[in-house]
Amino acid sequence: MVSPSATSPRFFNLDEHAYAAAETRCRTLLARMTLAEKIGQMSQFTSDRDTTGPSIREGYQEDIRAGRVGSIFNAFDAGFTRELQTLAVNESRLGIPLLFGYDVVHGFRTIFPIPLAMASSWHLDNVEAAAHIAAREAAAAGIHWAFAPMVDVSRDARWGRVMEGAGEDPLLSSRMASAQVRGYQGSDPRALDSVAACVKHYVGYGAVEAGRDYNSVDLSERVMRSVHLPSHQAAINAGVASVMTSFNTVDGVPASCNPLLLRQILRDEWHFQGPVVTDYTAIMELIEHGVAADPRDAARQAVNAGVDMDMQDGYFLDHLAELVEADEVSAARIDEATLRILILKDVLGLFEAPYRYCDEAREAATLLAPEHRRKAREIAQQSMVLLENNGLLPLSPAPKRLAVIGELADSQADLLGPWHGNGQVQDACTILQALQNRLSDAEVSYHAGVPIHIHDTEPHTNEIAEAATLAQQADVAVVVVGEKEPMSGEAGSRTDLGLPGQQLALALAVIASGTPTVVVTLSGRPLVLTELAQQPAALLHGWWPGSEGAEALVDLLLGEASPCARLPMSFPRNVGQLPLYYGQLPTGRPVFRENPDPRYSSKYIDSPNTPLYPFGYGLSYTHIDYAQPQLDKTTLAGADDQITLAIELTNTGERDGVEVVQLYLRDPVASISRPVRELIDFQRVEIAAGACQRITFVITAEQLGFIGSDLCWRCEPGQFELHIGAHVEDTQALTFHYEP
Ligand code: GLC
Repeated sequence: MVSPSATSPRFFNLDEHAYAAAETRCRTLLARMTLAEKIGQMSQFTSDRDTTGPSIREGYQEDIRAGRVGSIFNAFDAGFTRELQTLAVNESRLGIPLLFGYDVVHGFRTIFPIPLAMASSWHLDNVEAAAHIAAREAAAAGIHWAFAPMVDVSRDARWGRVMEGAGEDPLLSSRMASAQVRGYQGSDPRALDSVAACVKHYVGYGAVEAGRDYNSVDLSERVMRSVHLPSHQAAINAGVASVMTSFNTVDGVPASCNPLLLRQILRDEWHFQGPVVTDYTAIMELIEHGVAADPRDAARQAVNAGVDMDMQDGYFLDHLAELVEADEVSAARIDEATLRILILKDVLGLFEAPYRYCDEAREAATLLAPEHRRKAREIAQQSMVLLENNGLLPLSPAPKRLAVIGELADSQADLLGPWHGNGQVQDACTILQALQNRLSDAEVSYHAGVPIHIHDTEPHTNEIAEAATLAQQADVAVVVVGEKEPMSGEAGSRTDLGLPGQQLALALAVIASGTPTVVVTLSGRPLVLTELAQQPAALLHGWWPGSEGAEALVDLLLGEASPCARLPMSFPRNVGQLPLYYGQLPTGRPVFRENPDPRYSSKYIDSPNTPLYPFGYGLSYTHIDYAQPQLDKTTLAGADDQITLAIELTNTGERDGVEVVQLYLRDPVASISRPVRELIDFQRVEIAAGACQRITFVITAEQLGFIGSDLCWRCEPGQFELHIGAHVEDTQALTFHYEP
């Protein structure tokens, strides 16, 4: 839980003098601009280089020439951005340069594992490093502005966009958000290996009803502030340059015309200084939401609520001038929005040197640099979660006869995942190729198994029999199953989280062949793997591991790297459990472990309440033993006091290991019902084989606080429990008192 202690965030990491100087320069330019030119700066359109939404505007180049565009997105490459920038700088009246934005979400050309996979690494430095490499590559290709990090907390894996975030927990999401902002923006806005970041989607998009994309969101303000806002605030406190509004309503009011979000919280409480851009045609969608009568009304509501830039629908361009003339939108509001956009361009150095990001030589030298690929491989190794291991893994010594099964084992595209930027399919080798290359003296056979279609009910009896026979003739079988890229991501909601098509039957038949089998699952979301989990097979979840994912997977299979990832999102036993998350309230009739099946308790009659694999869970190739944790005292006396928790970890295995030690809090009695567990800290610890390591956590009153029913942050006196361990269902408890 991140306390809402709003520090004074520094826009784009600028000190106040640098910001003031930029503002002064931009006010001078603002004074020279016509109303139409100001509104042009507030308008953003996609190029036709890539499409990320339902519409495209013809003739955007003419708009640029006429000064009717402030930003173009989905345009990249040094050459193409130079071409478009020349239209703005040489042909528009004031020559105000364009801002080039793009969805650089998990890499630009070197593609990293999807963000939910990177969150599984719990490796904040590497998440920052990935964002920095993505920024370096994007900036070399003419991009100024990354539409990332996506920080939506989600507890419903039916929603396909869980792949873009950091899962179900506000603290992990907050720390991932800060790390990504640091990575994208660096410490100097003018640096040519950094870009402006854009925290999204503000706010609550991860809580869409029924996990159905673009659906309504109904949150109490307390839950919104406790669960969904912290990761956005963390990004802002890390200096993020901009904010993108979400498609959804929050308590009936769409985020793109919501004064509570865009003025009270973002500006008055958090003191955010940067521009707010909408999501793709989100202003037009105010009409579909039923809160705007027509485009003019939609534009009026959005700009007056605090939107500074209109992505793609052109409603600002079409209606703001007339709204100002009619005194329904103030000239001051237009100036405020325009100034924020100009300041962003100024701090990026675009007024002095509009083509500074368009450098073909730097682009050629930067994209897919070997050190970028090495880092992507390292992070992919750290992102795949070992769910079951019956001793089969690592495959060491390597098998002499290996059967590789499954269409996904021979796919490059499905390793990259959605939002793969300018990542090229040919940059990624397949899992099959990687195994063949690495096991050059082994006999590696392959069968595609069954086609991967969502509604495929064809039994594919022959294909499955052939694959099982191939497995039978091998020493080890590796079967790769899961989702193809479009089956998660935006507009990728599913009501069934099992393996699409007949892949489960394929995997079960391979396992039933009697050959030792490793099942590798690939997806953008938690899957229902309940039947697979009961099988005598190893189970490794690879997410979508990026350009270097195949090699990283083979590193893990062969034991040249060890799995160390931990789940950032619960894996359900069945889709009926959703929304499912560890931080649930206890209810008045909790199910107690010692008596798991009392009739009148908060449970299902057809399933346990618990997930198949809990938050924070993941196996490795070694074992870390936790000694008894110790507190240096059991009373926390006041806001300035602190308690130190110490614990000794021992790697009792024969391999070096990594442990993600998680510290949870329970507040058993408070003015409102509090979650049964809340992650309040974690440490990722590397421990050599046979070594012991003592680690400590410092607990302060700040971590005990929560937002009460009066929407005020509070720390209440009383007894608290600390739970420390390897995952949320495997902890040791300690208690202490807090006395203000
Ligand atoms: C998309 C996504 C958003 C993205 C934007 C621009 O619809 O919702 O995340 O940044 O449009 O591509």
